[in-house]
Amino acid sequence: MNFFWALCLTGILRRVSASEDCDCGYAAKVGNSRHVFTDLIETDFGKVASLSRNADWFSPEFNRTGDRVRGPLGEQFSRNNVDTVVEGSGSDQAPGLRMFVRNSTVDGMVPVAEVDSTRQEIQWGSFRVSMQVPDVAGTCAAFFWYHNDTQEIDLEFLTKEFDPGNNTFPLNLVVHSLESQADDYDPVEAGSFVKVQLPFNPTTAFHEYRFDYLPGRIIFYADGDTIAEMDGPGVPTAGGHLILQHWSSGNPLWSGGPPTEDAVLNIRYVKAYFNSSSVERREELARGCTDSATQNVCDIPNDEDFFFNDQDSDDQGGQNGGDDGGPEDSTNHLYPLSTWGILAASLAATFCYV
Ligand SMILES: *[C@@H]1O[C@H](CO)[C@@H](O)[C@H](O)[C@H]1NC(C)=O
Ligand SMILES: *[C@@H]1O[C@H](CO)[C@@H](O)[C@H](O)[C@H]1NC(C)=O
Ligand SMILES: *[C@@H]1O[C@H](CO)[C@@H](O)[C@H](O)[C@H]1NC(C)=O
Ligand SMILES: *[C@@H]1O[C@H](CO)[C@@H](O)[C@H](O)[C@H]1NC(C)=O
Ligand SMILES: *[C@@H]1O[C@H](CO)[C@@H](O)[C@H](O)[C@H]1NC(C)=O
Repeated sequence: MNFFWALCLTGILRRVSASEDCDCGYAAKVGNSRHVFTDLIETDFGKVASLSRNADWFSPEFNRTGDRVRGPLGEQFSRNNVDTVVEGSGSDQAPGLRMFVRNSTVDGMVPVAEVDSTRQEIQWGSFRVSMQVPDVAGTCAAFFWYHNDTQEIDLEFLTKEFDPGNNTFPLNLVVHSLESQADDYDPVEAGSFVKVQLPFNPTTAFHEYRFDYLPGRIIFYADGDTIAEMDGPGVPTAGGHLILQHWSSGNPLWSGGPPTEDAVLNIRYVKAYFNSSSVERREELARGCTDSATQNVCDIPNDEDFFFNDQDSDDQGGQNGGDDGGPEDSTNHLYPLSTWGILAASLAATFCYV
């Protein structure tokens, strides 16, 4: 086979493997079992030039003051505290999303950052984030799934807890439930709080943190190793959205701070494989998963550099879903992947057979 043929074939295979093959979803390995999820959001933030033009994520702006804050200071969530460093841009900063907590206050508020998934109906799934946490004391760096204050799964770093002197790097895992609400939102009382000592320093390199939200069960991981598991009636049941947050309210009992210098949380990617709580979305997916004889399910490889979806496509995002951009199609300007498959095949047919 000559080089040209090989090129044609690689092109076709790449398209096909990125779409048709996964029509029936993505399988995550959880212990010794395999869990299939129908939808995905995969974002390599080092490929995102402008977050405001990305369909999968947005940065909400709001001020949190008064009773909503558990701390002496308010918080100003602002897009000014979020940016991306694009791979190959020549910057000496790590490519990815940057979320800042500033060291100066504005009207009694700490400038802080949040980035949310546009998908709001994420029910059951496997969620992974690659991040490097700041070594500046006094912030909370969090990755969580949220439905409401009594259905929430959190992975939170409190940077004031780090001590490289004795190799102490805790990660706080919290599940908010009706039980913790009954205990005045104290998950420690409700028994759905675990502080795990990590075997590495999370401030010096990127590591992957993951949690699997399954019926009646939540499993937490660091770099692929299970670090905690929770079960029981406190496990959420609803659909929700994903949140990345970097904040400080000066609360000595939690975030501490505010930091004495600007603190930056670096996010390389988020990969989320999940089911939808939306009936419309489920029906749409069922129609897409037509070849029930073969049940095209793709195994999620254990490879940080692997993405099912083409991350180079463009800034519009629309990277989620097996075949399209999900229910919020108005924001999706890409053709369905299956269309690309057909296009690539006809292009290949035109060029490869001459
Ligand atoms: C997610 O959806 C797939 C496909 O419909 C289904 O097989 C699987 O059981 C669902 N997972 C959960 C936890 O409900
Ligand atoms: C938040 O507070 C700042 C400073 O007081 C104000 O300028 C801004 O408009 C407020 N933002 C929102 C979304 O209310
Ligand atoms: C959170 O949502 C669940 C399910 O929708 C509901 O039962 C619960 O009352 C809600 N909690 C709050 C604080 O609204
Ligand atoms: C590490 O040292 C700090 C004081 O610098 C102390 O508060 C903490 O308990 C120590 N942690 C461990 C696990 O020894
Ligand atoms: C904020 O941090 C910068 C360095 O990042 C420092 O020069 C400045 O003095 C700090 N300001 C305050 C109010 O601490």
